[in-house]
Amino acid sequence: SKKIVLTQDSTLPEAKKIKIRESINRRDTRVKISGWVHRIRIQGKDMMFIVLRDGSGYIQCYLHGVLCHTYDAITLTLESTITVYGIISELPEGKQAPDNHELRVDYWELVHKAPGGDEAFTNQITTETDPSVLLDRRHLVIRGEKASAVLRVRSAVLRAFRDHFYSKGYAEVTPPHMVQTQVEGGSTLFELAYYHEKAYLTQSSQLYLETCLPSLGDVFAIAESFRAEKSHTRRHLSEYSHLEAEMAFITFDDLLDCLEDLICDTIDRVLSDKSIADLIYSLNKDFKKPERPFLRLDYKDAIQYLKDNDIKKPDGTFYEFGEDIPEAPERVMTDKLNRPIFLCRFPAEIKAFYMKRCKDDPRVTESVDVLMPNVGEIVGGSMRITDLDELLRGYQREGIDPAPYYWYTDQRKYGTTEHGGYGLGVERFLAWMLDRHTVRDCCLYPRFTERCKP
Ligand code: 4AD
Repeated sequence: SKKIVLTQDSTLPEAKKIKIRESINRRDTRVKISGWVHRIRIQGKDMMFIVLRDGSGYIQCYLHGVLCHTYDAITLTLESTITVYGIISELPEGKQAPDNHELRVDYWELVHKAPGGDEAFTNQITTETDPSVLLDRRHLVIRGEKASAVLRVRSAVLRAFRDHFYSKGYAEVTPPHMVQTQVEGGSTLFELAYYHEKAYLTQSSQLYLETCLPSLGDVFAIAESFRAEKSHTRRHLSEYSHLEAEMAFITFDDLLDCLEDLICDTIDRVLSDKSIADLIYSLNKDFKKPERPFLRLDYKDAIQYLKDNDIKKPDGTFYEFGEDIPEAPERVMTDKLNRPIFLCRFPAEIKAFYMKRCKDDPRVTESVDVLMPNVGEIVGGSMRITDLDELLRGYQREGIDPAPYYWYTDQRKYGTTEHGGYGLGVERFLAWMLDRHTVRDCCLYPRFTERCKP
């Protein structure tokens, strides 16, 4: 048969190149859009509907007549790249498509054809259910509607966090990832050969943020933190995005207020963008903004709560004051209370070396974990030790050699002050907000035990 070649009608108005997200504002004008073929529906021999995706959105493209008769049209495959030209028109009553409109195509070009047959995109992921195979193919999985929606919200959330801090006058800093000090205990350090010295991947940028206070005032950082977690849970990653902030001349109550404000203001900012709000509700239809004030619960009262509610250790005994509350009971409690909780005043012995003790009860510290339903802990924060001798005792208690920490110790020498801060796990925040089963679904390429690819 004769090869059909399409030509563009030169009498039509010139097409304006746009992204799909702009299409509502470009209705009834001639546009040109490039993207990936997300879905194809063929109706008879003269009609073809393509849902095109360009990362900024989805648009239905309607092709008719000779436009569907070319070799490229007949053999078009999912995930091929194409450029379409035409006019975006509102759909007639009773028809459905994204944004209630479609692009009536008058000309189109194939950019690249993806394989069909055994190698077809659909055979790669859509029927696959084994999580480890899906993780191997995460570079393809992220093209899907759900995965890309999570990543799009993630981008908006990161921006909202930043906007929150900038609106309050914080400076953003970018601390080093290669360090020679630990922050949260030696057992989860990733060690690396740094030329002829030993170094680690950072567990937290907190100590560096503290050094910025006299230089820049209140500061924040969004950096990767690394934890060699042996536990294989749905909320632990080996590399995660850590949002950390540090404030000078504050009290513990101020710290809690800052945290409440960060979480609530960030959510308001994110929801104020309708397209992002739509994505959030499409992933988590029951999402509700948390109510202020958050419940404030002291650790000792949480221990009592566990007893009162018959929540026990695996060996059948109760958790006692001084013991760490692990993930499982914490989750049961958080889900029962079903609202954000500030869990406060943990015993010094189960917390890091730098935490300040409470004046009215030196067994416990001015510390806080923020717990969210379905996820548990999403934030850890505290006031920091201001006194030099107390800090030295802190190193000693944790068996830390103070020598590599000379620069941190100096903060208590050259103008010490009450100060505090926190770290928020971005993936955990997203898992809560988007109701994802695991934090692994809330980052681009998750890293955890035995998973360092793609
Ligand atoms: O409670 P963490 O260990 O606190 C700190 O690192 C402090 N130095 C932060 C600070 O005060 N600047 O970690 C803080 C948060 C946790 O609440 C959790 O959300 C997240 O970081 N996080 C993890 N997220 C994913 N995978 C892991 N393995 C995580 N470990 C901690």
